[in-house]
Amino acid sequence: MSCTLGAPLSQAGGITIAGLDLARPLPPVLREQIRAALRDHHVLVFPNQTLSREDQFAFTANFGAVEHHGGRSGQTKRYAAAHVITNLDDKGNPVDRSASPVSNYHWHTDKPYYPMPPMLTALYAVEVPPLGGDTEFANTALGYAALPEAAKQRIEGLRVVFYWGAGARRSETNARTPAELREHPGVDHPLVRTHPETGRKALYLGNHASHILGMPEPEGSTLLDTLLEHTTRPQFVYAHRWHAGDLVMWDNRCLLHRAVANYEMGRDRRIMHRSVVRGTVPV
Ligand code: OGA
Ligand code: MN
Repeated sequence: MSCTLGAPLSQAGGITIAGLDLARPLPPVLREQIRAALRDHHVLVFPNQTLSREDQFAFTANFGAVEHHGGRSGQTKRYAAAHVITNLDDKGNPVDRSASPVSNYHWHTDKPYYPMPPMLTALYAVEVPPLGGDTEFANTALGYAALPEAAKQRIEGLRVVFYWGAGARRSETNARTPAELREHPGVDHPLVRTHPETGRKALYLGNHASHILGMPEPEGSTLLDTLLEHTTRPQFVYAHRWHAGDLVMWDNRCLLHRAVANYEMGRDRRIMHRSVVRGTVPV
């Protein structure tokens, strides 16, 4: 197997890697090429894949320890090899939640409330709407680099408290039970983290960010909101338009992402399989 890198998909990141069958064992040399592409382009698009959930699990396991899903306790497939992200209800009917979107529809990074948050996430499109249903990625290293020097100095050394459910303020469907909050009590991480492979600084924030450690809550919230708005400006964003069979893998250490409700959520089916690879303690 060999692979071909396409042209960059945007200034913010993204590249297509064609010619690979991810269901087959990955030779170490290809694994290293993929690692390097992820480091350089942050979002990798592997089109035309046919993957079982076990295949997806095995592919992502090439890059580190695959996390078990610790999501909503009601979810039946909780500890499956790759778990399901969908707009379908238990009976398989599409549900329009656009009035109160679940947390995936707000800018976020995956599981920042873990002491060792995931380095990467892989999302495989099983079924996608004919129109829309995009995923957007915002490059927080570019966002950091573009900050005025005074802002960089102001935020240097600050720590953000993340907890599972911090975003519930914005989304009633996501309110956590006391038991869920006990399961994930929250952690603090640097607001400016250094990417372990590129050495570049990036903002670390998003929907699960609660407040800034040691700062009055309103001031911390305003700062987080301002930085979020800054780093999600269009020039820092790559929007992925899905085709069924795409596997997209992204670097959670220098990106925010969100699902976009730009489709007929109450009519069209959107089914994705997701797996997440553990990273290191952010510094
Ligand atoms: C995720 C996620 C967005 C989407 O899987 O972590 O945020 O577009 N998904 O489904
Ligand atoms: Mn996510």
